[in-house]
Amino acid sequence: MDDIIRLENLVKIYDTGAVRVLGLDTINLSIKKGEFVSIMGHSGSGKSTLMNILGCLDRPTLGNYYLDGVSIRDMGSDELSRIRNRKIGCVFQSFNLISRMSIEKNVEIPMIYARKRPAERRNRAIELLTKVGLRERLWHQPNELSGGQRQRVAIARALANDPPLILADEPTGNLDSGASVEIMELFARLHREGATVVVVTHEENIAAYTRRIITFSDGKLISDRINENPTGFSEHSDLCERIS
Ligand SMILES: Nc1ncnc2c1ncn2[C@@H]1O[C@H](COP(=O)(O)OP(=O)(O)O)[C@@H](O)[C@H]1O
Ligand SMILES: [Mg+2]
Repeated sequence: MDDIIRLENLVKIYDTGAVRVLGLDTINLSIKKGEFVSIMGHSGSGKSTLMNILGCLDRPTLGNYYLDGVSIRDMGSDELSRIRNRKIGCVFQSFNLISRMSIEKNVEIPMIYARKRPAERRNRAIELLTKVGLRERLWHQPNELSGGQRQRVAIARALANDPPLILADEPTGNLDSGASVEIMELFARLHREGATVVVVTHEENIAAYTRRIITFSDGKLISDRINENPTGFSEHSDLCERIS
């Protein structure tokens, strides 16, 4: 009942004319509200194919995807865009920010689509950028920020409409290790506050932050395990956070 994601016999076939590629092979998977999950696998294992479907950017060839209990199968593209805007916040490896716009305006974009009023958009953007530690940078443009800071803007933007699901495809792929830690600690904090977060990575130390680690290989789900000791989740590290 409290599954935010449920996949039933999900198949994705890429048909490029000459060759057909099995991107996802009969995936059955449920993720509950409030979970912090990583999706691992080598390059070409189907991680992005899965994320594109979870994020309603692409549709499965066969099978069902229930997002927050509702099947997306018979939705038209307008309805799918609307669901996506309300239910999902996406974070990408390359940040995908609009360059000639302040970071405050960047964070407002999902709220413009959701038809929020200007004052509300602005207040919410400032609140979120404060939450991710960028209160002093509101009027800066993305190119004036470091990679880690840009990714924090992208996370603030993903949170704009308070979606029940946050999806991040290799969010630390373009970051150095210091910034990667910062970003994973931010996701861990959002998780502690109740968010559902799904992160794709091919790095063990990034997946180690999450409570549940799912591995793909050749389009198949080959392992799904609990991580008893997630990085940055012990009482000790909470203490470090408080005194730092
Ligand atoms: N648009 C596409 N057209 C054809 N094949 C694709 C397309 N996108 C991905 N694939 C293929 O699907 C498989 C899974 O790719 P992908 O999901 O991108 O893997 P990962 O993100 O794990 O590296 C690969 O064999 C890839 O070549
Ligand atoms: Mg990928």
